Amino acid sequence: MKSHKRNILITGGAGFIGSHVVRRFVEEYKKYQIYNLDALTYAGNLENLKDIENAPNYSFIKGDITDSEFLKELFSQIEFDGVVHLAAESHVDRSISDPLSFVKTNILGTVNLLNESVALSRKNEGFRFYHVSTDEVYGALGDTGYFLETTAYSPNSPYSASKASSDHFVRAYGETYGLPFVISNCSNNYGPNHFPEKLIPLFINNIIQKRPLPVYGDGNYTRDWLYVIDHARAIDLVFHEGKNGETYNIGGFNEWKNIDLVKLLCQLMNRKLGRPDGASEELITFVKDRPGHDLRYAIDATKINKELGWKPSVTFEKGLDKTIDWYLENQEWLGHVTSGDYKKYYKKQYQH
Ligand code: NAD
Ligand code: TYD
Repeated sequence: MKSHKRNILITGGAGFIGSHVVRRFVEEYKKYQIYNLDALTYAGNLENLKDIENAPNYSFIKGDITDSEFLKELFSQIEFDGVVHLAAESHVDRSISDPLSFVKTNILGTVNLLNESVALSRKNEGFRFYHVSTDEVYGALGDTGYFLETTAYSPNSPYSASKASSDHFVRAYGETYGLPFVISNCSNNYGPNHFPEKLIPLFINNIIQKRPLPVYGDGNYTRDWLYVIDHARAIDLVFHEGKNGETYNIGGFNEWKNIDLVKLLCQLMNRKLGRPDGASEELITFVKDRPGHDLRYAIDATKINKELGWKPSVTFEKGLDKTIDWYLENQEWLGHVTSGDYKKYYKKQYQH
């Protein structure tokens, strides 16, 4: 490790997971200078980082990873010692309405970053490129089995196809140009700062507003949920202690069928909002299924557990409780993020 201050570039740091990663790095590594590069799309919000915005080891850079000239200029000005790449279009339903923007940001944007990183890695020993990816690249499981690091990629949505492609580019740059890299593939996250278009934050918001809870298909789809702060801890570990050229699966050991999770959310929120038992459950509305809907995701996180000693620290019960409280206490945040293009998108999505 270098003796000078290490410059770490985190992309997508104004988003949901990125904001928790930026906060963790800024707080844990006072000797690093953390650069948060984010285009501030509908999903990026600097309010997520208000508490650390004046920290001396934190800098925000507004910029778009699809702009190769901008990245070239940035990398010529700052010699980064590592890149933690989270910037992406991240919502499956949006990828069904508008696949091309996923190709642009997730594939082209990643390749732009890789090009600058290769050049830098040749003069900066110890440089590492970390791609934060998803378990959705593996496709869908049936009722049994788990995704392993060796599971073949079989993406089913434009979102997961774009993430699979960017994973492949990262690996290819390692093989072809000798770029030191590491990749992690994580299951569904939940927690504070989550944009209310994904299942958990959307339904919390809709329950508060007494709006319908649109459950896709019969609701018998299964996801493995991980508290976002545990994911940020895992990212920190993989970045610092993962082996170059390796992939690590990260998961919550916490599978839920959507309909059971929605009923649990309703129960917890009835209690917190002082509503009678069964009140929020009446909002559940079964709607047309998502096309190409993956039946089940489940991660085998043995490798990261055995090699790096990571396991989730927050139980689902506690994590969900903290998450609901956060949304109830941050309704101003909810109001801000749900203005803008959010409503236009929903009109479009319901036309499927
Ligand atoms: P998010 O949508 O909340 O945030 C994405 C961030 O990237 C936003 O701040 C946005 O402004 C920024 N961004 C988008 N396009 C950009 C561009 N062209 N240039 C620069 N910045 C841009 O996403 P998230 O849920 O926090 O996910 C972060 C990463 O983790 C993604 O790569 C995603 O694929 C991966 N991931 C997410 C989950 C999950 O459950 N959310 C699970 C596993 C992996
Ligand atoms: P989501 O949060 O979009 O994450 P992902 O598709 O990346 O897993 O969706 C989680 C699950 O919830 C998925 O099976 C789709 C389902 N779902 C609904 O039933 N209704 C909704 O309104 C949304 C957003 C998701």
